[in-house]
Amino acid sequence: MCGIIGIASNKPVSINIINSLKKLEYRGYDSAGLATLNQNEINEKKCSGRVEELEKILFKNPSDGNLGIGHVRWATHGIPNQINAHPHSSEIVSVVHNGIIENSDELKKNLELKGSKFKSQTDTEVITLLITDELKKNNPVKSVFNTLKQLKGSFALGIIFKSYQNIIIGARRGSPLAVGYSKDENYLGSDSYALKSMTNKISYLDDGDLCVLSKDKIDFYNNEEKKINKKVYTLSDDENISDKGDYKNFMSKEIFEQPITAKNCINEYIDSLKKDINIYNFPVKPEDMNKIVLIGCGTAFHSCLIAKYWFEELTNIEVEIDIASEFRYRKLKFNSKNLYIFVSQSGETADTAAALDICKKNNMKTCSIVNAVESTIARNSDWVLPIHAGPEIGVASTKAFLGQMIVLFILSLKLAKIRKDIDLPSYDKHIKNLKVLPIAIEKCLKTENKVQSMAKEFLDAKGSMFLGRGLSYPIALEGALKLKELSYLHAEGYPAGEMKHGPLALIEEGLPVIVIAPKDKYFEKTLSNMQEVIARGGKILFISDHKKELIDENIRFSIKVPSLDKLLSPILLTVPIQLLAYHVAILKNCDIDKPRNLAKSVTVE
Ligand code: M6R
Repeated sequence: MCGIIGIASNKPVSINIINSLKKLEYRGYDSAGLATLNQNEINEKKCSGRVEELEKILFKNPSDGNLGIGHVRWATHGIPNQINAHPHSSEIVSVVHNGIIENSDELKKNLELKGSKFKSQTDTEVITLLITDELKKNNPVKSVFNTLKQLKGSFALGIIFKSYQNIIIGARRGSPLAVGYSKDENYLGSDSYALKSMTNKISYLDDGDLCVLSKDKIDFYNNEEKKINKKVYTLSDDENISDKGDYKNFMSKEIFEQPITAKNCINEYIDSLKKDINIYNFPVKPEDMNKIVLIGCGTAFHSCLIAKYWFEELTNIEVEIDIASEFRYRKLKFNSKNLYIFVSQSGETADTAAALDICKKNNMKTCSIVNAVESTIARNSDWVLPIHAGPEIGVASTKAFLGQMIVLFILSLKLAKIRKDIDLPSYDKHIKNLKVLPIAIEKCLKTENKVQSMAKEFLDAKGSMFLGRGLSYPIALEGALKLKELSYLHAEGYPAGEMKHGPLALIEEGLPVIVIAPKDKYFEKTLSNMQEVIARGGKILFISDHKKELIDENIRFSIKVPSLDKLLSPILLTVPIQLLAYHVAILKNCDIDKPRNLAKSVTVE
């Protein structure tokens, strides 16, 4: 994680560095810092906490200079204090770093033996001191290349040099890094989003690449130290919509945007005239497909889990799902007729990107379902299905989850049709249902007032439990994840049928238990599991698409979502569980868009 920015210009850069760091805060907000070059001096300023704090420091004591680097940190090595904040500077060089240097202890010992003194507990400082040492005998580019050869791990770097006033060096291995072009100004950034307010012309570094930026040119080198050219991408305008408007925070904006997210996504993939799905050029012939393997992390993994039910229900293809951090280290059996699908909002998640690399190295066909279409995962996949959700800024994933589910549902439907696993009337019925889905999502948002009252039940709770069966089981997992992430309350998600195998022991008088039970084939079974909870004093909060009157009087609260096709129920049931986590967090006064200890884009292992 962590966010990097670098600007080489013909005018002072500190204000633009601060503005870009604010955009990068979704990557980490433990501390912030910047270093500019002015009158042959490296001027470093840093603080623990948010970019706001750094801005206050600069307000009192401005940093001049037409060239500089900045950083927001998500702590890995060393507590989040001012000393461990980046940049890490010596007399002659200053470094910002995203990633982890796995052999930092060993490198540190060697440097200490040579007399180097360390100020921080970070792994980054070894880079500063290695480059400092190299600069005694080499130019900056050679010094950085020689340093990179000694580093193990994954990283992106931004480096400035006291004696080379007009250049910033960027380097990438594993962690993402982009550059941006403008007139009399060039940029380095952890992602294109941070650079968007300044330019829409972007190039991306590949693994092993190094770049040298000055205000009027950017040179690129590959890991063999040979000069290379880079493709320049023009960013689309819609990616610039990243304002929270009248909403209190990005998360509420993103939750309430979901009818539009759904509409945009459905319009992209459904051809209204032909009543068909616009998905072509499958990298593996659908008729010959052996297995689909779906891989993701966190919320994206939950959409894989839902998709497993859909692919199994609609097609005859075998389906496997995996958490990327597990998949990447397993002994895998590959088959060229398998399709490997990687689901990721950011397209930069380190574990998911590594899992994709493993599949590519084994010559497997890969598909990515991403929101950020210029991301590493999208660029490295054979086939990309974007979710068209627009930028998602809140750390808790909401509209991207919804978009992932819609694309996965549409994909399963298209595969079923091509393979003739579904009859045409059923196919047409599903397309029709998709068209009314945005209106149904709109109605789900109207449950907000009720959900708000329900949220009060969590204030004195020791913990909580989310239960569901079938397609509602992943929603139970997602509900628990959202609540933990936003309100710091312990929550467990379980398949309701598993309760008696252990978790029932947790139920005690007044424990909030959220039962997610659409009227599907599991409905009666879920109600029986709910009775087992009621008998032990659990406080039931019931979410269903079924009429309230039929439900038990022991239910403390019930939320009704519209009733649509059963296969689409997880999409609708997601909305109240998002609102619930949101309102519990509001009542507990938590930071909604930046929950503690987390970051939006997880670019470290
Ligand atoms: O960008 P990705 O979709 O790959 O991110 C995966 C997870 O880190 C992410 O979904 C995380 O679990 C969310 N913060 C949950 O709300």
